[in-house]
Amino acid sequence: MTGDKIGTPANRVDGRAKVTGEAKYAAEFTAPDLLYGFVVNSAIAKGKITKIDTSKALALEGVVEVFTHENRPGYVWFDKNYQDQDAPPGSPFRPLYDNEIQFGMQPIALVVAESFELARYAGMLVEVAYEQEAFDSDFEANIENAYEPKQYKATPPPKPRGTPDNALESAPVQIETTYSHPSEHHNPMEMHATTVVWGDDGKMTIYDKIQGVQNSQKYISQAFALPMEEVHVISPFVGGGFGSGLRPQYQLFLTVLAARELKRSVRLVLTRQQMFSFGHRPKTTLKFKIGASGDGKLEALQKDVFAETSRFEDYTEDVVIWPGVLYKCDHVKLSHKLVGLDVYTPLDMRAPGGTTGIYGLECAMDEMAYKLKMDPLEFRLKNYSEKDQNKDLPFSSKELKECYQQGAEKFGWDKRSLEPRSMKEGHNLIGWGMAHGAWEAKQKPAAAKAVLEANGNLTVSCATADIGTGTYTVMSQIAADTLGLPLAAVTFKLGDSTLPMSPLQGGSWTVSSVGSAVKAVCDKVKQKLLDLAQQVANSPVAGADLASVAFSDGKISLNRDPSKAVALTTVLKQAEGGAIEEEVSNEPAEEQSNYAPYAHSATFVEVKVDEDLGTVKVTRVVSAIAGGRIINPKTARSQILGGVVWGIGAAMEEESVMDNNLGRFINHDLDKYHVPVNADIHDVEVIFVEEKDDIVNPIGAKGLGEIGIVSVAPAIANAIFHATGKRVRELPITLDKLL
Ligand code: MOS
Repeated sequence: MTGDKIGTPANRVDGRAKVTGEAKYAAEFTAPDLLYGFVVNSAIAKGKITKIDTSKALALEGVVEVFTHENRPGYVWFDKNYQDQDAPPGSPFRPLYDNEIQFGMQPIALVVAESFELARYAGMLVEVAYEQEAFDSDFEANIENAYEPKQYKATPPPKPRGTPDNALESAPVQIETTYSHPSEHHNPMEMHATTVVWGDDGKMTIYDKIQGVQNSQKYISQAFALPMEEVHVISPFVGGGFGSGLRPQYQLFLTVLAARELKRSVRLVLTRQQMFSFGHRPKTTLKFKIGASGDGKLEALQKDVFAETSRFEDYTEDVVIWPGVLYKCDHVKLSHKLVGLDVYTPLDMRAPGGTTGIYGLECAMDEMAYKLKMDPLEFRLKNYSEKDQNKDLPFSSKELKECYQQGAEKFGWDKRSLEPRSMKEGHNLIGWGMAHGAWEAKQKPAAAKAVLEANGNLTVSCATADIGTGTYTVMSQIAADTLGLPLAAVTFKLGDSTLPMSPLQGGSWTVSSVGSAVKAVCDKVKQKLLDLAQQVANSPVAGADLASVAFSDGKISLNRDPSKAVALTTVLKQAEGGAIEEEVSNEPAEEQSNYAPYAHSATFVEVKVDEDLGTVKVTRVVSAIAGGRIINPKTARSQILGGVVWGIGAAMEEESVMDNNLGRFINHDLDKYHVPVNADIHDVEVIFVEEKDDIVNPIGAKGLGEIGIVSVAPAIANAIFHATGKRVRELPITLDKLL
């Protein structure tokens, strides 16, 4: 039996380091004579810099240099070299490239000084003259100019199925409805930051906030024409990412530029306001035409998506694919068009496309259920999808019905009355709503290395990240479980570009990808140990194969007689140098491509709406998740809780407001950009239903970083309709829209 560590709600192995401040983030690494950078951002949204005068800034004692497009060094300036692993098709933004302004708050100068305060003050003294050009940041006004991108970053819209126009026309029950999701900005606790430590040997060590050190490494190597091995990127801890760290942000480029020019160590931290000067969740409008039979069978579904992008990159995400995954329907037509604006390119944000796409779909389906006078859950069961119709593939597993069942029971859904405004408590209207969701369970190629030392301590490593998801912990658990070691004997290393290859930490694929590599390398160590165990004098496991032995408690023992055992430390004496070292590169199994791997969720929500004030309280949330095998119920629950909290924020609070007079997001700080606080969060219950999946990846886990958010905001919006009878079709549902 080796399965005693996976499935245990272990505490985070890095928890102590985090709460004691021992864990270091990018801006906490230091060096002697460290210099500090501060970025000056453009005051206009589009046009040209006609003059930039840095003399007053440079005149201050302690200001070392001000970098602008005028004095920037001439490294590599082809835009292709700025394409990182997560770049959408197009021409990536190049900081300080020339005098062109392409978007509001574009970085235009970097001040480097002996203190942060001095750099910031000097930044205010940089004088800039502009020639303004007309810009367009108005999403709604440009929907009619939307275009189909030549190339989709995400899955291109599947071809139409059946005869969606005829089927719609002849459907007895029809709805046509439009939903709108605002732009949102990532607000991790840790701002984007880079510290470059300049070595005496002229080599740099780069500490960067990033969701994948090898992405920063490659980006810097390309942009500065440096050999990969000369670019060493380290990021042991990340204070939240949510997608903002999938692409290297401009502070990385600027810090490296300054350090190389000055041959000094430099640190640059963006301010909270500057966190609103790059990628964001794109504003998205979803138009639906849905037809059904009188008894609630879906006959036709048309979904047209319009989403914001920049003028220089075509950003798309998986907004349209969800009907094909979540609802059985034979006549479907989907489209995804882009609205090009003078803004920075949008960027993946937790469940990119799923969050917006499932929000619109699930609210539209709720409308249909009401029109049919059907219970929303019954309606979903009636149109349950047994396969992924986009790709015509069976699911690798799908326990969504179990999510419905357990979620509904825990919530008490059967006590719901169908009519809106039919449940009251004093002056509060009570609403119960639900929605379901899905998120793809992808596996990416990844590598891992394992070193088992003479004393039985194991170190496993991979260049992945831990953006707060619990990667250190679950990888340690997978390794400990595979080799039958106590968790305390295992160390997992990550966040260093010299470690074995890792995909970005994103897409909820870290456990499936890196976890599978960790398991594979530990399996290799296991085989090696068994081989070596044969060489032990009078070996108790002589002649045994892997199937007939167990690895547990630091021993190998015979299954048929566990008293016949040999300690790993004894076995290791047979190894060359007393230790075992193995490395593997792991790829998804080919048979996976015959299946559609998705995690699923069903969310049930209660809201209380004050009829006089329009204030909404989300009093209860029950979220049931089918996410395959749960490696660590504790960190898993945290992931889903985080998704629910963000879903509450998305439904009721979050919105980046574009000021079309200035071409910039006007609420660019946490005072005016609202995120949920403790007082917004009440009862949240997380259920993991049992789901066995031998196909999805060798671990059987589907990833939980994103499935927790997708069905929350629509369930809340649907509950608000049930409470009030008012259908608000744009997020966030603030009280002014309810009064
Ligand atoms: Mo996530 S948006 O893939 O970090």
